[in-house]
Amino acid sequence: MSDKTASNRMWGGRFAAGPSAVMEAINASIGFDRKLYAQDIRGSLAHAAMLAETGIITAEDAARIADGLKAILAEIEAGDFVFEPRLEDIHMNVEARLAALIGPAAGRLHTARSRNDQVALDFRMWVRDELQRTAGALRGLIEVFLARAEEHAATVMPGFTHLQSAQPVTFGHHLMAYVEMFGRDLSRVEAALERLDECPLGAAALAGTGFAIDRHRTAAALGFREPTRNSIDTVSDRDFALDFLSAASICATHLSRLAEEIVVWSTPQFGFVRLSDAFSTGSSIMPQKKNPDAAELIRAKTGRVNGHLVALLTVMKGLPLAYSKDMQEDKEAVFDAAETLDLMLAAMTGMVGDLTVDKAAMKRAAGAGFATATDLADWLVREAGLPFREAHHVTGRAVALAEERGRPLDRLALADLQAIHPAITDDVFSVLSVASSVRSRTSYGGTAPSEVRRQIRGWRKRLKRDARRAKGR
Ligand code: ARG
Repeated sequence: MSDKTASNRMWGGRFAAGPSAVMEAINASIGFDRKLYAQDIRGSLAHAAMLAETGIITAEDAARIADGLKAILAEIEAGDFVFEPRLEDIHMNVEARLAALIGPAAGRLHTARSRNDQVALDFRMWVRDELQRTAGALRGLIEVFLARAEEHAATVMPGFTHLQSAQPVTFGHHLMAYVEMFGRDLSRVEAALERLDECPLGAAALAGTGFAIDRHRTAAALGFREPTRNSIDTVSDRDFALDFLSAASICATHLSRLAEEIVVWSTPQFGFVRLSDAFSTGSSIMPQKKNPDAAELIRAKTGRVNGHLVALLTVMKGLPLAYSKDMQEDKEAVFDAAETLDLMLAAMTGMVGDLTVDKAAMKRAAGAGFATATDLADWLVREAGLPFREAHHVTGRAVALAEERGRPLDRLALADLQAIHPAITDDVFSVLSVASSVRSRTSYGGTAPSEVRRQIRGWRKRLKRDARRAKGR
């Protein structure tokens, strides 16, 4: 038995070619970083042009490099490119192909550059594109919510705390609570875009370079505001990926809370909403069932997105400056989180866009559980001058009576209410219905339909302003 066979037995059967195959398997990133091909080629084109402009390479070599890179881009897009694990990653796959296509000039492309600044650039540009996609998806989601909120600005439903009926609210107001969350998500995405707007190219391995490169030129060519300021930080920084993952995790968490509510609301016991056939599934055995699978999967995929954030934080937390190969593990977390979040946002947009609201069921539930008790107490304070604590006590007795009689507060006889407190008049019935309760809550940010409509108008203005500003950029 040769040594090689012996070691193979130890590695296990998958690696028939011995230890070097294991090394290749753990080392190669081409299986996933091929996703960066467009960014890699774009970065190389800008780098080569700058090298020629600064006289570091000749214009002829730069032209040959550019032609070769464009041919490679076409090959990859046509599906004709052969990605080789032996060549580790996207950077070396492209460079090796460039050498095969244009010969020795290819060797000049990597002047004043390292894979460390190259990967920092490629990945940053990929994350920039994804953040822009996410911002667009969030704007689309917010628009759908605004339309549904407007439609249901006066639709009453129970508002909950502890998932117990608390006070009546409007469905429009509840949806607008999510608009606030998604608006914060959008601002986190915008802040991440703002922060990553610095170009890593030219940091080289970690110390910068002695060649007279022009980093401002490449930064501008690649659509960045300016170059990064510290070459050591540049090759060791993955904050832009963490920014994306944390924004994605918080957004996913918001989507998950709503998904949970939709699961609850769509049960026959609640019956507040009905999902469209397009966003639900049937049961193979129980014909009466309509399952909220999309909502359940949004809830579940949140675990996956949050997991990717924790994974990358954990990869980064023990790394000394500057680059370590550990950082290659950044990509799959981000790619999968991005794909997952895109899908979650699309599913939520579609699901909420066409769910049907059962206003009668919501109204019935809104009036259950003596939900307007606070309105009675407030009336006693306002109209009868009682201190709130005493009003609270009087109301408690009215609720007990209503419970005993088996009817809602607004169906109690005036005489019965007056027996509890003589200051109560007929006027009290104007506040005891669910509709008048929500109508009265006109404080800024409150649930009154008039206030909800005002907030919707405010959001529409904000979105329009953002769109105008984005066009101006
Ligand atoms: N594939 C590597 C990564 O994703 C590229 C950078 C490699 N740099 C190096 N010094 N080995 O991080």
